Amino acid sequence: MDKRTTSASNTGSYIARGASAELFDVGNAQVLKLFRDSVSDEMIAREIEASIHAETSGVPTAAAFARQDRHGRRGIVYPRLEGATVMDWVRRNPMRAGWAIDQMGAIHGAMHRARGGTLRPLKQVLATDIAYGPAPVPLQRAAIAYLETLPDWDALIHGDFHLGNIMMTPQGMKVIDWSKAAAGHPAADAVRSEMLMRFGIGPADWVTNLWRDWAAGRLRRGWLTASPDMVVRDIDAWRPVVALAWLRAREAGRTPAFMRYLDRALAQAGLPQLDR
Ligand SMILES: Nc1ncnc2c1ncn2[C@@H]1O[C@H](COP(=O)(O)OP(=O)(O)O)[C@@H](O)[C@H]1O
Ligand SMILES: [Mg+2]
Repeated sequence: MDKRTTSASNTGSYIARGASAELFDVGNAQVLKLFRDSVSDEMIAREIEASIHAETSGVPTAAAFARQDRHGRRGIVYPRLEGATVMDWVRRNPMRAGWAIDQMGAIHGAMHRARGGTLRPLKQVLATDIAYGPAPVPLQRAAIAYLETLPDWDALIHGDFHLGNIMMTPQGMKVIDWSKAAAGHPAADAVRSEMLMRFGIGPADWVTNLWRDWAAGRLRRGWLTASPDMVVRDIDAWRPVVALAWLRAREAGRTPAFMRYLDRALAQAGLPQLDR
């Protein structure tokens, strides 16, 4: 019998779930994050490496202790963080949303002072996502050639910096969920957060959409304030390639608004429009 399965009789009590995993309290102030089968081994390994690298670089986070499997499911053990995600906190404290989002933007800007180290290069990730995405080949080629002209940079990039991946703890905000981390340009990460806020998974009724657009602007301003000018001036330049890359795996929410956003970004960069 598999040693792993016999030694792992107790999974602990359920705490929360995200898109890729479920979290269990396993005692000793630790949690076990058990992944869905669809998550690749590479993503799990990256999440461990990046969370440790982020903590070592001074980013407020919880670094992985170890890979640990239970009942045949792959997992990672983390220190347990107290508190809720910023998403849940904002729902309970709607009048303080602006303050919380400003904090998030400041943390995002400060985080980008860390180097990406040995994490995969973001330009390569974007080029692959564009090439495997739905855009017609001439647009893909033009966008990848354009991407090559953008400045090289090796900041620590989170890749999934949204309200559900930041926790509000008694020790301040902590950034979690590093499976999409990379080394690259901070402006690309800021654009991705803007898209997650405006067009990411979650409610998309018109009132929420107004809130989303407001929150995305506020998050961007927080990031801009915390970032050096030489990084900030490139935000518009990264938008078309980050948006095209996002097309590969995006959910269908707010499609017309996202398409207008993409068209505008492509036009601004002098790239062809997406035919449809
Ligand atoms: N170290 C932790 N301590 C306590 N709760 C956590 C911790 N890490 C994650 N969580 C909770 O579990 C949820 C899912 O975790 P996350 O790492 O974001 O997984 P996913 O990759 O599925 O999004 C989070 O939104 C949060 O509520
Ligand atoms: Mg998450």
